[in-house]
Amino acid sequence: MHSLRFLLALSSLLSGVIGGPVLPTEPGIEKQLHQAASQFWYENINHNGISPTIPNGKNWTVFRNVKDYGAKGDGVTDDAAAIQKAISTGDSTGTRDTGKFGSTGQPAMVYFPSGTYLVKSTIKSAVGTVLMGDPTNRPVIKASADFKGTYLLIGRGTQYTGLVGFFYGVKHLVLDSTAFPGNKAITLLEWSVSQNNLLSNVMFNMPVGGTAHSGIGTQETGSPLIINDLQFVGGGVGVVLATSTQYHLKSLHFKNVDTGIRLTSILQVTGQGLRFEGCGTGVDATSGRAGLFNFIDSTATNTSTLLKAAALSSGSVTGSLVLENLIVDSSVPSTVKVGTTTVLTGSVEPGAAWIRGNVYSPDSTTPKLSNGQQITTSRPKALVNITGFYHTVTPPTYAEYDLAQIVNVKDVTGYPVAGDGVADDTASLQAILTAAAAKNQVVYFPYGIYLISDTLLVPPGSRLVGEAWTQLSATGNKFMDAKKPTAMVKIGNPGDIGIAQMSDFIFTVADILPGAVMVEVNMAGTTPGDVGFFNCHFRIGGARGSKLSGSAKCGNTPQTCMAARLSAHLTSTSSSYWENMWSWTADHDLDGSGSGVTYPGSAGGFLVEAQNGTWMLGIGIEHNVLYQLNIHQAKNVFVGLQQSEAAYWQGTGNTLLAPAPWKDSSLPSDPDFSWCAASDAQCRMGLYQLVTKSSDINMYSSGFWNFVSGPSRTMCSIATDKKCGQGIAALYEGNSRMSVYGFSTINAENLIVEGSSSGGNSSTKGVTVSRTANLGSPHDGFGTAQVAAYLRQAK
Ligand SMILES: *[C@@H]1O[C@H](CO)[C@@H](O)[C@H](O)[C@H]1NC(C)=O
Ligand SMILES: *[C@@H]1O[C@H](CO)[C@@H](O)[C@H](O)[C@H]1NC(C)=O
Ligand SMILES: *[C@@H]1O[C@H](CO)[C@@H](O)[C@H](O)[C@H]1NC(C)=O
Ligand SMILES: *[C@@H]1O[C@H](CO)[C@@H](O)[C@H](O)[C@H]1NC(C)=O
Ligand SMILES: *[C@@H]1O[C@H](CO)[C@@H](O)[C@H](O)[C@H]1NC(C)=O
Repeated sequence: MHSLRFLLALSSLLSGVIGGPVLPTEPGIEKQLHQAASQFWYENINHNGISPTIPNGKNWTVFRNVKDYGAKGDGVTDDAAAIQKAISTGDSTGTRDTGKFGSTGQPAMVYFPSGTYLVKSTIKSAVGTVLMGDPTNRPVIKASADFKGTYLLIGRGTQYTGLVGFFYGVKHLVLDSTAFPGNKAITLLEWSVSQNNLLSNVMFNMPVGGTAHSGIGTQETGSPLIINDLQFVGGGVGVVLATSTQYHLKSLHFKNVDTGIRLTSILQVTGQGLRFEGCGTGVDATSGRAGLFNFIDSTATNTSTLLKAAALSSGSVTGSLVLENLIVDSSVPSTVKVGTTTVLTGSVEPGAAWIRGNVYSPDSTTPKLSNGQQITTSRPKALVNITGFYHTVTPPTYAEYDLAQIVNVKDVTGYPVAGDGVADDTASLQAILTAAAAKNQVVYFPYGIYLISDTLLVPPGSRLVGEAWTQLSATGNKFMDAKKPTAMVKIGNPGDIGIAQMSDFIFTVADILPGAVMVEVNMAGTTPGDVGFFNCHFRIGGARGSKLSGSAKCGNTPQTCMAARLSAHLTSTSSSYWENMWSWTADHDLDGSGSGVTYPGSAGGFLVEAQNGTWMLGIGIEHNVLYQLNIHQAKNVFVGLQQSEAAYWQGTGNTLLAPAPWKDSSLPSDPDFSWCAASDAQCRMGLYQLVTKSSDINMYSSGFWNFVSGPSRTMCSIATDKKCGQGIAALYEGNSRMSVYGFSTINAENLIVEGSSSGGNSSTKGVTVSRTANLGSPHDGFGTAQVAAYLRQAK
């Protein structure tokens, strides 16, 4: 009964120590002994997802219960081969690790019922796979004492490099190495990935004092967005992050881990809601080139050093730090240590930030290098809870719902829904959503491509759940007119208050649709997250199932291929929470061989006009023509991390310059680029951030990268070639109470240019935050720049 004791110990450990994850409501001994069937709806519902874009895809198996592939989950049998079979099984034409189904043609939900799955060798995931356990009693994947391998789980398919590592998920699981000798090396999860991935509600259970064990490791370069709601117990290092451009680390709890997080060569990081308990070091950022770390809303107890940092090197602000709302108790002797010297003790209470790096204070036009000064900060009340922490939300599982309260959209009598990328599902879906919302039911969309030909209204009372990134895809004449932007998915009408949550979807376009606004949010909730998007992403072209891919429709002229108007519009009446979102206008083909690649152009990424609270955690917006994020006449916006890249074909040698080709259909919120000379291709690139006439805006970790320039996509470094980068990363004009912490660029000449609200050629009237005044160290040979705090519009 060793395993029973272990389970009980684990649940008491979790409930006593670590908040957040969904726990068994009654971890009764009876239930554990008899392995009673779970009540979790997703385990028991009819699974009828398909893979529309591959031959014979109607026969594709999306849902795979590992027990159907022979896994026992009894804590004794070696289940490695059975789990691997559940992952690798393809169809009669081949297995999933061959690449033959493309990266979007082989969706798989590999499901683990509660139990302990002992494994003696490494499990390896494949592209398009989500490994998911029962959240009501998270199953354990446990390395045997004689385990052979470097990793317990490789969370991705290694035929794709980390930089193009998309569509992997791991959630509601416990990875466990407590039976494996603590002095022998093992990493529980290899996670070299980029955007559109999910790592959430996973516990990494390692032997206390087992210093050779690590929780998460990365072997390769990546461009990841967020990992969230994870727990680490024991071991040497919880999370080792190397050679990535950015990361949002949200709600990670470490107990008795020697070093919680090790940051190496990563340009822009937000750590939010980190908790360290009984650790040696909380965060170790000493090993070179950790660009800027925003460390907020975190706590530590019984931990020797909360943060270890290297000294700033001369002539560079790489290694910048922003510490805000860090609460430590008297059992933490050192809050920040540089080398062997403690430079900060005690807490940094709400209302102040401890800063190392360049600061633009309200009335200075040049940066002042701060080396550990405290500055006064403020947070809009609408964005924080009563103790001053930014609101965060644990992604919903709806595990508290009964199977009878779940609607499978493909199983509703009288309302046929195909999700096959061919049939128009709009009318049936609308009827189903309306009825379900009235009854507060959860609506489940088995994997597929659901074609939407007219605005689909998501009314108050909606909870929509996809699976391995179910696609909602716009099609048809309603979305053709660039001068009449039209929503595909509309979340409520203006003035609606209620619940509208979506999880695990991709919003996309099936055609060239110059008027398509993929999501419009009008609704607000009564608590943050009532209107929420969790692990929902946007994709324009680049994959099968869209006429934008593989055909000559866009040709090689992205400049004129007006593929979509906007990813999302958060209107003035809305209040919404976004966590883990990548909006991607394709710059390469995910499924093809690489030939016949077409590059769509889309006007804008996210337009935020919301007033009453908007939270964005771990977002990436890439390759739009006019802007990536546009905060316009908005209020109360929190951005925890934004990563962006411009449209790669913009810049040197591009001749159709922004705002073309969208000039004739421009919205009042669109930038007109009047501050640029007519032929200045560097200046006329899509802005990463445009913030105008807004107030109460707090943003952390703006990471804006530009690697190549022009239609020929020449790799370049602005450090050596002044004509190759982006002219302006962000334009801020006429804002008040706006605080920007941690702003990093690769290959941008100016990080921030200010305008005045009078409009016209306003850039010349304000201050320019230039690259040369804020130089960082090169990253992979690229020229970087960093600002720790920009507070000129903070008043
Ligand atoms: C469908 O899948 C099943 C199970 O994998 C297989 O036995 C059957 O032959 C397949 N049917 C077709 C038409 O491929
Ligand atoms: C502090 O943490 C250590 C492990 O680093 C643990 O052994 C000790 O019991 C903890 N002390 C308290 C008071 O919790
Ligand atoms: C505020 O949020 C933080 C972080 O989520 C949490 O630890 C704290 O308990 C919250 N305070 C209140 C009063 O709910
Ligand atoms: C905004 O929030 C406040 C409370 O914080 C509420 O009273 C008001 O009705 C909200 N307004 C809208 C438009 O949702
Ligand atoms: C605005 O000013 C910039 C920088 O001086 C200049 O290049 C550009 O031509 C001006 N634009 C207009 C419309 O005058």
